[in-house]
Amino acid sequence: MSSLEKADKLRALREKAFAGGGEDKIRKQHEKGKLTARERIELLLDDGSFEEFDMLVTHRSTSFGLDKRKYPGDGVVTGYGTIDGRQVYVFSHDFTVLGGSLSETFAEKIIKVMDMAAMNGAPLIGLNDSGGARIQEGIESLAGYGKIFLKNVLYSGVIPQISAILGPCAGGAVYSPAITDFTIMAKNTSYMFVTGPNVVKAVTGEEVTKEQLGGADIHGKRSGVCNLVCDGEEEALLLIRKLLSYIPQNNMEEPMRITCTDPPDRTEMWLDEVVPDNPNRPYDMRRILEAVVDHGEFLEIQRMYAPNVIIGFARMNGYSVGIVANQPSFLAGVLDNDASVKAARFVRFCDAFNIPILTFVDVPGFMPGTVQEYGGIIRNGAKLLFAFAEATVPKITVIIRKAYGGAYDVMSSKHIRADINYAWPTAEIAVMGPEGAVEIIFKREIREAADPEAKKRELVQRYREKFANPYDAASRGYLDDVIIPSNTRFKVIKALEMLSNKRQTIPPKKHGNIPL
Ligand code: HXC
Repeated sequence: MSSLEKADKLRALREKAFAGGGEDKIRKQHEKGKLTARERIELLLDDGSFEEFDMLVTHRSTSFGLDKRKYPGDGVVTGYGTIDGRQVYVFSHDFTVLGGSLSETFAEKIIKVMDMAAMNGAPLIGLNDSGGARIQEGIESLAGYGKIFLKNVLYSGVIPQISAILGPCAGGAVYSPAITDFTIMAKNTSYMFVTGPNVVKAVTGEEVTKEQLGGADIHGKRSGVCNLVCDGEEEALLLIRKLLSYIPQNNMEEPMRITCTDPPDRTEMWLDEVVPDNPNRPYDMRRILEAVVDHGEFLEIQRMYAPNVIIGFARMNGYSVGIVANQPSFLAGVLDNDASVKAARFVRFCDAFNIPILTFVDVPGFMPGTVQEYGGIIRNGAKLLFAFAEATVPKITVIIRKAYGGAYDVMSSKHIRADINYAWPTAEIAVMGPEGAVEIIFKREIREAADPEAKKRELVQRYREKFANPYDAASRGYLDDVIIPSNTRFKVIKALEMLSNKRQTIPPKKHGNIPL
């Protein structure tokens, strides 16, 4: 064979790899409103930056006719490239090849980029569109997934791992994303389930659609498995780029700081009167966050799930911060099971990747009652407590209004190592709200009063005067200052800059035992 013929052979092989499962399958993929594995990579990465590995890898199986169905690349496109000039590693399932199902060699390709990403300290992005373990390969595909799970776990907290779900993903194709830091789904085309509807019907007799079983809405609102829900694939891929801008390349780096054109001393006068005079009236905490952060830009995570707590990323004078905030306009901002777990995982992510945590507090307490107790509110609330207490990144807390009971302690209080604790003059810090408190400590006085209702009102008023303010806490140094609300942005930025060289450790140990 001449040199030219050899080059032609390579070209033909590469063309075959580019064709994936063939024209017919690609057409079907497009008809479903989905992009191909390579089209997705193109949208995700900076133009022309993608370098592919293992395009010529094929599977080794001969079972069930697989020897006649070999595709160069074997159903997954892997390699590296850049996002905003920063290096990332990527794998992208090709559903057109045997449903993107995972074979032994498919797994080896993914593990190669995972190892490369960890060794070179760069994020790993998985674009998932797969029916899970390749059934024909049996134990080899299970072993492949097992090895991927292990790497997901070992590299957790070392490099950021982000998963987009861009098709019907089942089995290992959902368990691996579940271990990663963020999972993004696209409405109408993304599904996550342990097994698909056909298997569900065969095993339990239950008839359920893909959407009902594991659509983006279900996982975005109900299960909390999905962190970001997008309208389509393109939006999902662009959102990964945005998300990465807040996150460092690895756990040894700080997040990148960008030039900020929003004045750090910008005051927002309306904040001085945003908290309603009636303590039972809600307001939208998101508006406060947007007023304080750079350019009002806030990337909210898990917006639809447990909306009584808000989590997400923003910048303060160009520095990346993670924000945790109670949302009084939903369930009065109470901490329940879902909200506690949601916030705890986010705090741990920020801590693992050196992102300072900014906490805004307006919390009436933990949600009481059987539903919450049976659901484990003690264990789940303890997760948030554990996560805040353990975090060694700069922690700044601003109490806006209520900070009652255990929830006061938990929401990044001074007592669990927050660095700077501020309160607005509207803050109310006490063991419990006035109504509940007087019923307990003045039970007899109220019962024996000539007019119990009037007595109760009077006692509530007295209690409010004593505790419904920040000055008792400030007089003990549990607050570093009581600040003018309109000045919050400036005060927080000053504190962040003061803490920028913070170093804090925890006692040497293998790992703590967070109440999972
Ligand atoms: C081999 C598979 C496959 C799989 C799909 N295909 N899943 N091949 N192994 N796991 C193939 C189909 O045979 C078909 O091949 C092509 O992919 C497209 O699949 P369709 O069913 O036609 O597509 P669709 O109707 O869109 O349905 C997609 C699906 C469904 C919902 C993913 O295929 C499905 O339910 N698959 C099984 C999912 C599952 O239960 N996986 C669990 C694996 S166990 P042709 O020949 O038409 O190209 C697992 C364990 C890991 O992953 C460990 C976990 C802890």
